[in-house]
Amino acid sequence: MNKIIEVNNLSFGYSENILLDNINFSVNKGDFLGIIGANGSGKSTLIKLMLKILTPMSGEIKLLGENIENLKKWDKIGYISQKANSFNGNFPATVEEVVEVNLFSKIGLFRLPKKKHKDMVYDALEKVGMQDYRKRLIGNLSGGQQQRVFIARALVSQPEILFLDEPTVGIDAKSEEAVYCLLARLNKTLGLTIVMVTHDIGAITVHANRLICLGENGLFEHNTKEGITREIVTEIYGYDVNLHMHDYKNCCRKEG
Ligand SMILES: Nc1ncnc2c1ncn2[C@@H]1O[C@H](COP(=O)(O)OP(=O)(O)OP(=O)(O)O)[C@@H](O)[C@H]1O
Ligand SMILES: [Mg+2]
Ligand SMILES: [Zn+2]
Repeated sequence: MNKIIEVNNLSFGYSENILLDNINFSVNKGDFLGIIGANGSGKSTLIKLMLKILTPMSGEIKLLGENIENLKKWDKIGYISQKANSFNGNFPATVEEVVEVNLFSKIGLFRLPKKKHKDMVYDALEKVGMQDYRKRLIGNLSGGQQQRVFIARALVSQPEILFLDEPTVGIDAKSEEAVYCLLARLNKTLGLTIVMVTHDIGAITVHANRLICLGENGLFEHNTKEGITREIVTEIYGYDVNLHMHDYKNCCRKEG
């Protein structure tokens, strides 16, 4: 089974106005897929449809080869929603606890020995380089550090697909690059399939292997090997977009 996500003839609207009109695409196992498009074009809606948070008006969605209507392996699907990293002040949970919650809610591992939980949580935090922060309160970490913890929380249930909706909003350029490099590494080393919504067009074009665009005329795929220009992006967004080209000097991915 090569196609890990299949979206066929998908249509959806919140009212009688159709937002997504007959959308078709598929994602292969091991893809790092970027989804771009203007505010309100339906990117978050598309993710929520794939996660069965919303119900399509028509069409079919398959994850892991299974129609999501019948899918049981939801623990193999990770999700980091838009604006997840907004804990502040004294939110009374440690980094470790935030990650551990996903073990219970997703797999219900109450019967495993406590030591096993701790090891799984430690491993997930280690994958994102946050193991030394495990006893700290989540609210006391920076936005970029919190985002890494959220990635660890998604990883603890060992997902096969990770959906991220604008995970780098509100974090500085250096932390943003670190998130891209972390995702690229997880994609390579774990074979994790990644689907990421973002407005960082320069960065996603470099780090993802595929890019789909939601625009006025529906959905289409842009070939990442061709690079991306202001003209192309302006056409997708429907207005002139001043493109921040990617900073290759500080990039984990060398050109080519
Ligand atoms: N629960 C809802 N009820 C009604 N309309 C909604 C709802 N959620 C989103 N919409 C509308 O649907 C459209 C698409 O929203 P969506 O959040 O999918 O856009 P987006 O592409 O993720 O935008 P952004 O880049 O701003 O995150 C918008 O016009 C939005 O106002
Ligand atoms: Mg959105
Ligand atoms: Zn980079």
